[in-house]
Amino acid sequence: MEKIIDEKQQGNSLIMEPKTENKRKLFIESYGCQMNFSDSEIVASILSKEGYNTTQQLEEADLVLVNTCSIREKAEQTVRKRLEKYNAVKRINPNMKVGVLGCMAERLKSKFLEEEKIVDLVVGPDAYKDLPNLINEVEEGRNAVNVILSKEETYGDISPVRLQTNGVSAFVSITRGCDNMCTFCVVPFTRGRERSRDPQSIIEEVNDLASRGYKEITLLGQNVDSYLWYGGGLKKDFKDATPMQKATATSFASLLKMVAEAQPKMRIRFSTSNPQDMTLDVIEVMAAHRNICNYIHLPVQSGSDKMLKKMNRLHTREEYFTLIDNIKKLIPDCGISHDIITGFPTETEEDHKDTLSLMQYVKYDFGFMFAYSERPGTMAARKFEDDVPEETKKRRLTEIVNLQQEHSKYRTQQFIGKTVEVLIEKSSKKSDAHWSGRNTQNTVVVFPKENYEVGDFVNVKINDCTSATLIGEPIGYSENN
Ligand code: SAH
Ligand code: F3S
Repeated sequence: MEKIIDEKQQGNSLIMEPKTENKRKLFIESYGCQMNFSDSEIVASILSKEGYNTTQQLEEADLVLVNTCSIREKAEQTVRKRLEKYNAVKRINPNMKVGVLGCMAERLKSKFLEEEKIVDLVVGPDAYKDLPNLINEVEEGRNAVNVILSKEETYGDISPVRLQTNGVSAFVSITRGCDNMCTFCVVPFTRGRERSRDPQSIIEEVNDLASRGYKEITLLGQNVDSYLWYGGGLKKDFKDATPMQKATATSFASLLKMVAEAQPKMRIRFSTSNPQDMTLDVIEVMAAHRNICNYIHLPVQSGSDKMLKKMNRLHTREEYFTLIDNIKKLIPDCGISHDIITGFPTETEEDHKDTLSLMQYVKYDFGFMFAYSERPGTMAARKFEDDVPEETKKRRLTEIVNLQQEHSKYRTQQFIGKTVEVLIEKSSKKSDAHWSGRNTQNTVVVFPKENYEVGDFVNVKINDCTSATLIGEPIGYSENN
């Protein structure tokens, strides 16, 4: 699953199986990371019990919810623009209520109600179970806000309604919040402290997805390698756990193993890994299980030790290389992708060159690259001046994007002449006669449909490629079918 942290992307409105007894209409759309998309499925599930079916027609909605992203300023601007659109619709449908969910709700809290007159409801990421009460408040004519962050909430007891699904791949969230405090990042403020979900409820969800025909799951968290279940509670309080809790705690490596062994035919992916928290045993579990995909999203942010330190990324460039070497040693064909930020405060041309040379070393399969955007309240905003000129940030961004393009092409070319296993997800965007799916390394593969179906595992011989896509011919079902 590609990471969807791209504010340029259109918000996706979602549909689900309607319940006939449900009379009210919910229009819900999500911006930002995969976690937001996954959270919207939890919200739809909570509201389905309150009499709401989802609709894709904004104009007919009784309730409009927008699940928002604060990661960069542009992401917030995108949401503000959407609110203008809702405003226009509300003029025609004055009874329509509008709610803001997610990170912007948490960051701006009741300020939202002052700044955006259209908004009736502001709900932070840990307060979705309170939505029925909050909606009642709104229906009685009051604005409603709940942005309380929780120590416990993981929504582990809620069975998400799968929205806009291809019936093949699904997200399963395993942790919420983040304790890492990277100095540029707003997430620890908007999503709170890190807590993990009961492994039993994770396995149950995965088993349920398998029984409904799903073929691939992505375990989701801001920092999955930090997963730690010791009976509930915050990760930071683990030090005070009882000896028994400590002895029986479940780490990410053991969770991954449990999930892979519970459903040996299910493809397993996970996102995101923070290099400082990724341990060798996770890579060993990946190497030992065929159904865990050979792909790691491993954001690095910068190749300069000075920048890494300033960003509070708790590893050096050398340690990152060691991790990459270990991955390649244990899983030689592992796909690796990155996130990189250009123009973090005080970044010099030398620092930027360090990033380029780090990229040269790894030759990532693909990556997500961003110009630094100062976020209010973060350590970087409080302590460092945003002193790299906008045009320098952009020029450096272009340079890393171009280099990534070269590396992506280099990586896709390595597949030419080889046969890869592809899980079919959908029709190719460019041609209705072709299927589109991904190989284990998470690279998109397109090939003629023949008699194959969505959800089939197919062996595909690769004949051609672009920097982002492999093009091939199917040579039969894979043994995983
Ligand atoms: N651990 C999270 C990271 C979320 S943020 C995850 O699940 O992916 C995703 C990426 O956005 C980060 O890795 C970083 O590269 C980028 N990012 C975060 N804050 C940023 C900021 N203030 N300016 C520019 N890019 C930022
Ligand atoms: Fe943000 Fe760093 Fe956590 S990028 S989500 S604080 S790992």
